[in-house]
Amino acid sequence: MVLALQWQEDAQTIRLLDQTLLPVEERYLDVDTVDTLVAAIQSLAVRGAPALGAVGALGVVVAMRQAESEGWGDERLQSEVDRIRLARPTAVNLAWGVDQVRAAMPSGPETVLKMAKAVVEEDEAANRTLSRLGADWILDRTGKQQVRVVTHCNTGALATSAWGTAYGIIHELHDRGALEVVYVDETRPLLQGARLTSWELTRDGIPHLLEVDGAASSTIVRGLVDVAIIGADRITANGDTANKVGSLALALACQRAGIPFVVAAPSSTVDLATAHGDDIAIEERDAAEVLSLGGHPTALPSTPVYNPAFDVTPHDLINAIVTDRGVVEPAARPDPNLLASVAS
Ligand code: MRU
Repeated sequence: MVLALQWQEDAQTIRLLDQTLLPVEERYLDVDTVDTLVAAIQSLAVRGAPALGAVGALGVVVAMRQAESEGWGDERLQSEVDRIRLARPTAVNLAWGVDQVRAAMPSGPETVLKMAKAVVEEDEAANRTLSRLGADWILDRTGKQQVRVVTHCNTGALATSAWGTAYGIIHELHDRGALEVVYVDETRPLLQGARLTSWELTRDGIPHLLEVDGAASSTIVRGLVDVAIIGADRITANGDTANKVGSLALALACQRAGIPFVVAAPSSTVDLATAHGDDIAIEERDAAEVLSLGGHPTALPSTPVYNPAFDVTPHDLINAIVTDRGVVEPAARPDPNLLASVAS
């Protein structure tokens, strides 16, 4: 399995697979400063909510080591840790990962590192658990021996510490012989589906078809798939879910087609402090991402752009939220505090 991130014991650095270069090149970045980490997060060299949680936790160690070597006082160190925590706004896991270890900073970097490694290990374990629960739920709900799936963005090993969330369920279905095919949305503008998910599916030998984002609703309404499975960047107390822009369109089409729309995420993605989706900060990214493709202009450079990176699917369109702590069914059982039973 490919690993998006690894702690390098000798160098005390985070090794990241630079996802901006995939699938053309497999090159690694060694992160030993807060500046490098923040740049890697903001450029999407490392991305995906659970992976951001892991680098958030490990990033505190990087900041502490840099503080030692550059003689920062505590105030500077805390503000550098805040820079990591706030590098991207939508995925709650980034702040969660930092917060998991921050209180241990007075005990020194070795203690923080131990806790950060636990965050990484627990993410993989959570993903494997939720994948089994999700596959069970989908096979039970559809009543099918084999299912056809549509997915959006990248939720695989690249987006997590290991294994994947929505992708993990797809992998689990495949391992059980219960997967026919996956339709993979290419995921404009940064093509996480085309560049990353289809790359992972190819490596894992899982049958798939890459489609443009605009095809997805028709794929669903025409009956070409049995279920949509996506990941999440933040799930509020009532089940409203932020994920890669384009996810909402899938949910609306699933409702029309009468097929289940499933969200998969570790409990670290649940944000009980946010009551509903209207309160989620949606990251808006640079116009350049929309004005060009692979370095080639696709519109006049002066064209005004709206580039939200995420959208929010309301809970009533979500049939199941699958976490490592269990499955909840927001559409069937609306409740303002539905996620309390599966939060971390
Ligand atoms: O902008 P990205 O690539 O970080 O967006 C990622 C997604 O939207 C994923 O679907 C989400 O983080 C879940 S990853 C398991």
